[in-house]
Order: sequence, then structure tokens, then C-alpha cells
Amino acid sequence: MFEEAQYFAPVAAQDDGSVVVELASSHPGFADQVYRARRNAIAALALNYRPGTPIPAAEYTEQEHEVWAAVVRELGVKHAKYATAEYLEGAERLGLPKERIPQLEEVSQLLEPLTGFRYLPAAGLVPLRDFYGVLEDGFFHSTQYIRHHSVPFYTPEPDVIHEVIGHANALAHDRFAALYRLAGQAARRVESEEALEFISKVFWFTLEFGVMQEAGELRAYGAGILSSYGEIEEFRGMSIRPLDLTVMGTTEYDITKYQDVLFRAESLEHLEDVVGGFWATCDDDMIAKLVAAGCG
Ligand code: TRP
Ligand code: FE
Repeated sequence: MFEEAQYFAPVAAQDDGSVVVELASSHPGFADQVYRARRNAIAALALNYRPGTPIPAAEYTEQEHEVWAAVVRELGVKHAKYATAEYLEGAERLGLPKERIPQLEEVSQLLEPLTGFRYLPAAGLVPLRDFYGVLEDGFFHSTQYIRHHSVPFYTPEPDVIHEVIGHANALAHDRFAALYRLAGQAARRVESEEALEFISKVFWFTLEFGVMQEAGELRAYGAGILSSYGEIEEFRGMSIRPLDLTVMGTTEYDITKYQDVLFRAESLEHLEDVVGGFWATCDDDMIAKLVAAGCG
């Protein structure tokens, strides 16, 4: 999508206490000084955040609220066609605002009474062990900035649209929330980096980019498909593989473009059995055996 697209932009705390987010020259907001100032201010909020306190409100411009409203309109139509029933139920229960970007504190307050999940602000990439581990306790690390208005349909850099529309609507459903918590348990149970990476890849190909058979049609439940009105139009044409732990846990992916290999669950129950069951019980040993099975 962009040349040398970046996943999370590096965040640098300055000696004077301010924070600078280093956007690549290929980033659509690179030359937009207003956008850069917003990114820096929002990163500073996350860096200075203390757990247990309310998440500070980010200031957004009118134009940024319009990006949210436009993406919500586009996605509303597409979700009705392409999202799984449980995701749509979650969205119905959560009731996100449609015309303006919700503050993360507000998302937490909507979500917590439903499934116990709360949001935590993240300035950039959170180490895998923390990101996944705290899911067990019902915490979800989230970026707070929004994608640049010039490229609303897709971004290789996770933003508040992805975190909230993609993830919070799923986290509002008990069955998806339970799967996220199991991923957290799994991440805390394993010791090796290899096993953790395997778990994170299974997460990638399910809760981020999973698709599911529903009433004879392929539908999406993965947050990364459901937050991009560009990508959501393409997933049915991708290479669709059966749900397989060894293959998901060892397949490489490119974060900078539409995912062209996707894994299909036959139902939510099937996903819970295979992937939920795996996260509930896996350890370093089991994962080493799964990896070895793939090499045979
Ligand atoms: N592409 C997603 C969107 O446009 C956001 C996103 C960026 C993402 N990186 C990701 C989603 C990694 C899942 C995983 O909404
Ligand atoms: Fe995500």
C-alpha cells in the first residue's frame, strides 16, 4: 500500500519531556504538520499514563472526527454483508458513537459492564508478552491516534478505528471475549519466545484475520478485516485454508498489505474447540510438537 510501510512508528521521548513520533517519509501524514502534532501529543498521553487512572482524553480535529464518521458509514454497509452474526451482536450491544471518535475511557465504560474488558493506551508497539498476557485480566492495549484522512480505507499501522471498531465490537460478545482471555492465558503459560510467537501467529490468523463459514457463506470475524473497508471487499477472493494450528502457527505474513492467506473456521464452535482448546491447554512442549509435525 505504501512503500516501506511501517507497522508501529517509533516513539521517542525528548529531554524536554515532549514526545516525537517518527513517521516514515512514505507515511501519508508525513508532511502534514497538524497531523504530526496530533500524533506527538497522543503518544505523550500514552507514555505518561499510569495504570488504574482514567485514560486521558485525546484531542482530535473536526477533520479527524469526520474520518471516523465516514469509515463508520462505509463499514456499516459492509459489515451487514460480510461480518459474522456474533460480531454484529457485539456491535449492537456496545453501541459505539457513529459521528465522532470515542475516547478510549468511554470505550472501556461501554465494554466493562458487558464482558469486563477495559482499554489501556499504547504509544506504539507493546512487547508481545505484555500485549497478550494482560488479555487474561481483561485489558486491551490500544493506540489512540486515527489514520490520516487521505487514506481512510486501509492502513498498515493499527489505529483507533482498528482497535475500537475491529476489536471492541468483538470484545463486547461473551464468546469472543472468552477467546481473547484464553490467548492471554496461553501467552503467560509458555516460556520460550518460539512458543509465544506461535501463539501470536495463531492470534493473527484468527482474532485478527479470521474468516468463518456461516449459513453457506464466508464471513469475517477478524478485527483486521472488519476495520478496513478496502480489505473487507477482498477477503472472499483470497486463498482460504482449513483451520490448522500447525499451519497458522508457522505461516509468515506481510503486515503491509491485504492478507492473501486466510484460515476458515466452519463455525464459532469449531473455532472455540480448535483454537480456544489450544490456548486453554498449550505449553512449550505441545507447541514444539506442533511445529515438528509441520516439518515432517
Ligand atoms: N489494516 C487495518 C485497517 O486498515 C489496520 C491494521 C494495521 C491492522 N495493522 C494491522 C489490523 C495489523 C490487524 C493487524 O483497519
Ligand atoms: Fe489488532
